[in-house]
Amino acid sequence: MRRVGVLTSGGDAPGMNAAIRSVVRTGVHRSWEILGVRQGYRGLIDGLFTPLGTRDVGGIIQRGGTILGSARALEFKREDVRRPALAHLEQHGIEALAIIGGNGSQTGAHGLSEMGVPVVGIASTIDNDLCGVDLTIGVDTALNIALEAIDRLKVTASSHQRAFLVEVMGRDSGYLALMSGMAGGAEVVPEVEADPEDLAQIRHRAYEIGKAHALVVVAEGARYNAASLAGYFADHRARLGFELRVTTLGHVQRGGAPTAFDRLLATRSGATAIECLAQGRYGVVVGLTDGQIRETPLADVVVGKKSLDQKLLELASVLAQ
Ligand code: F6P
Repeated sequence: MRRVGVLTSGGDAPGMNAAIRSVVRTGVHRSWEILGVRQGYRGLIDGLFTPLGTRDVGGIIQRGGTILGSARALEFKREDVRRPALAHLEQHGIEALAIIGGNGSQTGAHGLSEMGVPVVGIASTIDNDLCGVDLTIGVDTALNIALEAIDRLKVTASSHQRAFLVEVMGRDSGYLALMSGMAGGAEVVPEVEADPEDLAQIRHRAYEIGKAHALVVVAEGARYNAASLAGYFADHRARLGFELRVTTLGHVQRGGAPTAFDRLLATRSGATAIECLAQGRYGVVVGLTDGQIRETPLADVVVGKKSLDQKLLELASVLAQ
């Protein structure tokens, strides 16, 4: 192997820079040339490459986002769109790719792999919804950001005996809602499909048993998200007897400086990706599984979205009493 490309794709995740740094430095250590691909798959389609040396990735381990830029290139699912990307790789002598990202990104990686490109994925998304990977890069940071907000909201909620609703990210995944709700001691189980009337009951019960506040955490993609719940509670305020204060955390969760956990996970994953490429172990995603950095075949990762752990959902419900 002489020349390897690295790209970040999809929603950025804190720790992506640490992964880029690790890919570059462990690659250069093997006397390989590393080329950064700008703006995710967009850069592959348009041929946007930039050489990356060890100094180019200095001072980025602590930075959120991605120095390479990212994009959602949904068209990359199509083979006719991937063809010009292959031509660019050939023109620039890029023999293999390390692809840092979540579900959509690894689906693109799988497509490239099926077309014969030596590819290794690095599991990175704040949604933690990749099959075959326990914990993806960025989740820990996003969770801690959500938690800090929840802790602060609880303080003011208690002062006013108010009900608060916090919406966390996750268009297609309730993982952040479940885990931040549980770690933040939310009064209401962050069920993905929570019904407003059930929430009202839980809120009433919270006050009956002597709580000073009621805090609900919902995922962005829930059937009743912050906007629809706020509307519902405003419309039924007179009957329900209380109002709901709503906070939507949104992209704030994605922009933070990576925690130590995410930096180390990203660093180890990047190094393992280079090891895989060196040893010809292509067509896999590198990620944390059973406490180890393991490789899972891309074909097993892109089969669908990881569902929430039912036991954890039940535990959250018990703890919310
Ligand atoms: O990257 C994952 C994610 O942050 C989801 O949690 C969220 O639903 C989505 O991306 C938002 O996407 P965009 O940044 O394109 O608005």
